[in-house]
Amino acid sequence: ANPQFDVYRLPEEHEEIKAATREVCDAEVAPRAAETDANAEFPRKSYDALRAADLHAPHIPVEYGGAGIDALGTAIVIEEVARACASSSLIPAVNKLGTMPLLLAGSDDLKRRYLPQVASGEAMFSYCLSEPEAGSDVAGMTTKAVRDGDHFVINGAKRWITNAGESEYYTVFASTTPGSKSKGISAFVVEKGDEGVSFGAPEHKLGIKGSPTREVFFDNVRIPADRLIGEVDEGFKIAMRTLDHTRVTIAAQAVGIAQGALDYATGYVQERKQFGQAVSQFQGIQFMLADAAMKLTAARQMTYVAAGKSEREDHDLTFYGAAAKCFASDAAMDITTDAVQLLGGYGYTTDYPVERMMRDAKITQIYEGTNQVQRLVIGRQVLKGIMG
Ligand code: CAA
Repeated sequence: ANPQFDVYRLPEEHEEIKAATREVCDAEVAPRAAETDANAEFPRKSYDALRAADLHAPHIPVEYGGAGIDALGTAIVIEEVARACASSSLIPAVNKLGTMPLLLAGSDDLKRRYLPQVASGEAMFSYCLSEPEAGSDVAGMTTKAVRDGDHFVINGAKRWITNAGESEYYTVFASTTPGSKSKGISAFVVEKGDEGVSFGAPEHKLGIKGSPTREVFFDNVRIPADRLIGEVDEGFKIAMRTLDHTRVTIAAQAVGIAQGALDYATGYVQERKQFGQAVSQFQGIQFMLADAAMKLTAARQMTYVAAGKSEREDHDLTFYGAAAKCFASDAAMDITTDAVQLLGGYGYTTDYPVERMMRDAKITQIYEGTNQVQRLVIGRQVLKGIMG
């Protein structure tokens, strides 16, 4: 066969990653998803199962002790975990988000110090960018890092930090040249055990309840200057470049949640009988399934193309990362909402998983940049002529 015709077929290696992840998730992650949501507890057993299969941080390069799975493979892992349990999918997703600044701009010494522990599963890594008053306008952050000899002293607060408290390490963005907005921000590694680091109470959220979201406070946190990632005042670009890569993982998460909901609804409508036949026999139901399947397929293709762009560091990754995240999360919201509708009254209860999937899908339209910010990013790329 002409390999040119294989562009839309996954390589065998990725088919294997997909099948292996699904097997672990069907056995160990999916059965705990409802309980994880109901108890709003970090899914420790899912973590252990993912760690045993080396799927908790698959993107860490082999040279730092990781599985060395590429961006497409990592997206597929996140997608498959999200199909079973969205909260659990934040384990590989946030490990990638937290470590991406180090991978993009960190010194070899810093990478050797921190990445092997994430690769082995001893430690997780979170990403501290947003603040109470700096969300979409993130360059307006007020957390400060002040140089003091061989140290930096950090003061401030970060909000909406995924897996805060559970993670051992944090990439923290702080203003080093106040008043310079995006040109005065730097990135640092902060450890949970550093004196002056503390956490707020867990947020009570609509979905992804098994993934703790907390504030992180920095009260005169004094860290060695060698924990700077990249150069002073270069942090904003590192933050944005990180998000270019990791918006692809949120797209994958959205695709997985939507697939989980569509799979469940497809089974249900074939069992459920009304007016003397399975409701799947009604055209109105088939049309809903058809729309969901079309949107999901388009979202998955966009996500995989964006993952390829991420792996190759292509010049149009900014466009593809934002577009895949925005499209896939909007699709996931539509598909999960329709899945609830397909189950009728049953879908609205916690006896069935689709209401959880609908609640979990919502966050994918909000975090790693709201879909309004994505459209702004996409619009700017279109105007620059960078797309396609
Ligand atoms: N790559 C490299 N450089 C970039 C870049 C990118 N993708 N995007 C912007 N830059 C550069 C620009 O080129 C510019 O550099 P110059 O000044 O040298 O030209 C500089 O950064 C400033 O860029 P902008 O003028 O575009 O900056 P802005 O202040 O207008 O912000 C924004 C633009 C797109 C709105 C940005 O603030 C943004 O993305 N906001 C959303 C933040 C976000 O996504 N937060 C998510 C938090 S993490 C999270 O949610 C994690 C979780 O829980 C799981």
